Amino acid sequence: MELGKIVYKGKTKKGRDMLIRYPKKSDTPILLDYMNTLSKERTFIHFQGEQLKLKEEEKYMNDFLKKIKKNQGVKLLAFIGDKLVGVSDTYLQEKTEKHVGVFGITVAKEYRGEGIGRLLMNLVIEEAKKYIKELKIVRLGCFANNKTACVMYKNSGFKEYGRLPAGIRHRGEFVDHVYFYKNI
Ligand SMILES: CC(C)(COP(=O)(O)OP(=O)(O)OC[C@H]1O[C@@H](n2cnc3c(N)ncnc32)[C@H](O)[C@@H]1OP(=O)(O)O)[C@@H](O)C(=O)NCCC(=O)NCCS
Repeated sequence: MELGKIVYKGKTKKGRDMLIRYPKKSDTPILLDYMNTLSKERTFIHFQGEQLKLKEEEKYMNDFLKKIKKNQGVKLLAFIGDKLVGVSDTYLQEKTEKHVGVFGITVAKEYRGEGIGRLLMNLVIEEAKKYIKELKIVRLGCFANNKTACVMYKNSGFKEYGRLPAGIRHRGEFVDHVYFYKNI
């Protein structure tokens, strides 16, 4: 897939103009800032306050952009004006799991609840269906205390296939890690 390609232009539920597109190399500093802000929030993601360095983000992005070019991954960025407000992606696993994509999604705190997450998720899955020919299953893990995300996945056709009891330590509490999948 072509880097930087626009896949959506429209309004959020609150009427703000939004653009959704594939990333390009020059997005790396804003992605770094976005990730580090989410990490400080200690929301329902892997990073809980740790701060990434530019070099680490550059390596991550270079690898991901290669996957996009080879149609082995999709990543979409949502912008309101110049502000990065959401990121969602999926990428193929390797070898015996080359038909399985791992899915991820985040929306910036101030922009949640206005339809950006659901739209981004639908677009990533649509793009992945179109371009990642080997993809058969999308899977993800969700913290059990993340009600918004668990409801969003269930309402979008994801099925729970298990949970690791106390698999996550979030803000000092042990919570289950809930696993979801969807056939593509
Ligand atoms: C989970 C997340 C991506 C959802 O994005 P969003 O833009 O806030 O979600 P949307 O506004 O598109 O709403 C999607 C669905 O979530 C649910 N939802 C949204 N806001 C909610 C709220 N305040 N309370 C309960 N459910 C809510 C609704 O079921 C909604 O479905 P609908 O479209 O039928 O109304 C976002 O909240 C987020 O980034 N959270 C922090 C990081 C995270 O949890 N990532 C996922 C890790 S598994």
